[in-house]
Amino acid sequence: MTKPKRHIFVCGSFRMNGTPQGVCSKGGSMELMQYLEGELADRGMGDVAVSGTGCLKVCDRGPALVVYPENWWFGHIDSEEAIDAVIDSLEKGSPPAEYTIA
Ligand code: FES
Repeated sequence: MTKPKRHIFVCGSFRMNGTPQGVCSKGGSMELMQYLEGELADRGMGDVAVSGTGCLKVCDRGPALVVYPENWWFGHIDSEEAIDAVIDSLEKGSPPAEYTIA
């Protein structure tokens, strides 16, 4: 296994019993995760891993995701346009202000 250069954790609102609930799941985060993975592949960014997570505790800004190792947190990621902005930020090396959680 090759370790990824970056890892994107997409909030799936999973609770301890495994049932997805909450803002991010209801906001379509898991469906957008599929789009995210497809876009990363299309852009040749195979060194970026994507995983679904439990609640990231920023529900009021969901759907949310976080990028490591940069420790960039993004909120209101509720569209393919927002996903594109996140991926663009990885390519540019700076996070998009409109989605960044400070
Ligand atoms: S449900 Fe996604 S941050 Fe809480």
